[in-house]
Amino acid sequence: MTFLQGFLREPRGVGSVIPSSRFMERRLVGVAGLASAESVVELGPGTGGTTRAFLKAMPAGSALMAIELDPLFADHVRNTVRDPRLVVHQGSAEHIVQTLAAYRQRSPQAVISGIPFSTMPAEVGQRIVQAVREALAPGGCFVAYQFRDVVARLARPVFGAPEYQEMEFLNIPPMHVWRWRKPGG
Ligand SMILES: C[S@@+](CC[C@H](N)C(=O)[O-])C[C@H]1O[C@@H](n2cnc3c(N)ncnc32)[C@H](O)[C@@H]1O
Repeated sequence: MTFLQGFLREPRGVGSVIPSSRFMERRLVGVAGLASAESVVELGPGTGGTTRAFLKAMPAGSALMAIELDPLFADHVRNTVRDPRLVVHQGSAEHIVQTLAAYRQRSPQAVISGIPFSTMPAEVGQRIVQAVREALAPGGCFVAYQFRDVVARLARPVFGAPEYQEMEFLNIPPMHVWRWRKPGG
């Protein structure tokens, strides 16, 4: 209900009527390599279902920064997902580099994004993808899941071809999942 209310409040910003399925959560955990990740950023946690799944998979002593644009969603995640490894920041994914610095967080090994690139201005999407690349640790990965392929078109000039691209059919709606890697590491 909280998610649906968020969608009704900001349909373009939220971009989906229901949260990701358990199958999608599991796929993201595997594709992003969360079982061995020390530092991770989630863009657009929504009501926190994916956030919980990520924390469950991540090791003790790791850190997850969740950056959420919607203030009500950010408060909801802060109040309902209690985990010392989690920091919730209300703001835009565009400012991921400054946000990590402000919280003295390490460069992430993975950035996972479910934000709706297809409903935001193209230049905002471009800035977000560039900021993700800048923020990532060398060898780190950018994982995006999306119904449309706008994020793939934005990421290609910044990251090159994706190293992983599959559909998750056990989700409503079925979604693409991509992974790009920053060289180095
Ligand atoms: C489709 S929901 C994904 C929610 C959850 N991660 C899931 O998979 O169920 C997209 C989320 O991205 C957030 N969002 C949209 N634009 C954003 C931005 N520029 N920066 C951070 N979050 C954003 C929305 O408010 C919404 O919570």
